[in-house]
Amino acid sequence: MKKWSESRAPTGRYAYVDGRYLRHGQASVHIEDRGLQLGEAIYEVCNLRHGRLIDEEPHLDRMERSLREIGVPMPLARAALKSVMRELIARNRIKDGLLYIQVSRGAAKRDHVPPATMGRPTLIITLRPQDLGGLEKRMAQGVAVSTQPDIRWGRRDIKTTNLLPNVMAKLAAKNKGAFEAWLVEEGKIAEGSSTNAWIVTAAGEIVPRDLSSSILAGVTRKLILEAAAEAQMKVSERAFTLEEAKNAREAFLSSATGACVPVVTIDDVAVGDGRPGPLTRRLGTLYARKVGLEG
Ligand code: PDD
Repeated sequence: MKKWSESRAPTGRYAYVDGRYLRHGQASVHIEDRGLQLGEAIYEVCNLRHGRLIDEEPHLDRMERSLREIGVPMPLARAALKSVMRELIARNRIKDGLLYIQVSRGAAKRDHVPPATMGRPTLIITLRPQDLGGLEKRMAQGVAVSTQPDIRWGRRDIKTTNLLPNVMAKLAAKNKGAFEAWLVEEGKIAEGSSTNAWIVTAAGEIVPRDLSSSILAGVTRKLILEAAAEAQMKVSERAFTLEEAKNAREAFLSSATGACVPVVTIDDVAVGDGRPGPLTRRLGTLYARKVGLEG
């Protein structure tokens, strides 16, 4: 059986694994890697636009934090890591893409407790072209979300590669014809399976869920909030209920894969008039300006 179909999943031609640039199809890690065996790994996704990583520093900040929280050292000093990222971008000749960094504690004989002396953490960096056409369509038409129970662990602020509950939720949403799953805990929306969740209330207040261990502190979320503050827009970071979301005037998603993606239905109920809203659009423009994508 064919294990990997490059045609179905476009990737960059080269990947970086532990000090080497390899053909993507040939790159691999040790079968005793603790990321694979125990899920002891974290990751980041950076947005490459017009050949520039538009959100690199805050992603590297968050990566350092995630590693600190799980007690794994940085695989490379930040400056060295950045040069590897640039080299990989150059080798792949991709201008608009998504750069994935994964770091696990490394390879060792399987045991929950890692050996006292571990080798270097495993570092994987991959790059793939971004489907900008698909994103444009989502921005123009908006997307549907389906709510799913949030069955994840209690440290969602750590960007772990343990994404099984996220994958299950997204798949369940997809099976209902939705683009994203909104994860609900005690009647409140936490976030999407791979995005942060926002609403705009009838009073025009922009509401992202407040930061805690219940959600990931999205880099895109942070940049949108900064752009909104600079434009003196009304924002309230707080929890919001599913009921409130269904009665919201607008709703949207944010992540490195798409900022301010309008949500037009939640569980088949139209949000506002069922079309992308003006504040979502305005925030999208402000964000694009902030990261240097528009004049
Ligand atoms: N996901 N919440 C979750 C659970 C996420 O996985 C992500 C990112 C976000 C948004 O974070 P940021 O703005 O830093 O991308 C929120 C990435 C894109 C992924 O898993 O592919």
